[in-house]
Amino acid sequence: MNLRLRDHVQKILPQTTFPGKKQGKAFAPANIALCKYWGKRDLLWNLPETNSLSVSLQDLGAETTLACIESAESASDVIFLNGQPAAPAFAKRVSLFLDLFRRDPKLHYRVETHSNIPIAAGLASSAAGFAALVLALNDLYAWHLEKTQLSKFARLGSGSACRSLWQGFVEWEKGMDPEGEDSHGIPIVLDWPELRLGILILDEGEKAWSSREAMEITKKTSPFYNSWKTQVAEDLRDLKIAIADQNFVKMAEIAEANARALHATMLSATPAILYSKAKTLESWHKIWQLRSAGLEVYFTQDAGPNVKLLFLEKDLSDIQSLFPGIIVVAPFQ
Ligand code: PMV
Repeated sequence: MNLRLRDHVQKILPQTTFPGKKQGKAFAPANIALCKYWGKRDLLWNLPETNSLSVSLQDLGAETTLACIESAESASDVIFLNGQPAAPAFAKRVSLFLDLFRRDPKLHYRVETHSNIPIAAGLASSAAGFAALVLALNDLYAWHLEKTQLSKFARLGSGSACRSLWQGFVEWEKGMDPEGEDSHGIPIVLDWPELRLGILILDEGEKAWSSREAMEITKKTSPFYNSWKTQVAEDLRDLKIAIADQNFVKMAEIAEANARALHATMLSATPAILYSKAKTLESWHKIWQLRSAGLEVYFTQDAGPNVKLLFLEKDLSDIQSLFPGIIVVAPFQ
């Protein structure tokens, strides 16, 4: 546990030592970035080099229940993921995060998370998980903290989790403060009922590099990392205009170009970071061919081999027959 982080969190928490109820419970959606976060300006406080912008996935995400364990019952936290004891590395990450909030070192929690998205396949499952955990703590202790504060807490668990506190479009401000007081999600109030996201699960395997290590390798070794940062600033500016105008083609073109630039930048790192598999590349070709035949379909991709499609409701039946098994999300319905 990091004492600086813990002291910081403890100073913010209301003085409630006892849970307001038997258990806390919360749901948080996963989110998919249209302009990606890749690279930290500060590793301890999980602060990004650039702003980023995502859209949340409605009812796809994580539901977490959290309860205190009687001290005699267990010497550590008990973490369950989808009904099974969590893998040791993941359980340790969750426990270290819970340490920041623990008033009494002898107090342990039972955490049960159900995620309806594949874990660690680049589908932002950790973002939803840490956001749901922070919301469940807020519920258990009845802290009534503002979402902006909860977003900053969630960021300490996983950077992109700070965007999972809201539905819809959310921008993560990188901020300037060394301890990240101004680095949190900010929702963009807008309704876009026709917008659809399609999740193509091409490979459910665990990813080869955690995003944390892959970001550091990219930042330290890619000759294109500075160009990536410049592109993010431009993409973000244009993306926000396209979103405000509800200009789908413009928005989706920027999102796809941003994802391609991200993966090209990673590939130029040493060692090369390549999340794509043969099936990923096949799907890119298919999307490009369909687009040249007139279908308005675009993709984005995160730290994994799976691809997310961007399209509009009018093309739903075509997309469903062209991509059997696709999971379709209507982010604004
Ligand atoms: O929050 P992390 O450490 O899982 O990193 C997320 C990285 C990407 O998903 C690739 C991009 C993003 O902005 O969500």
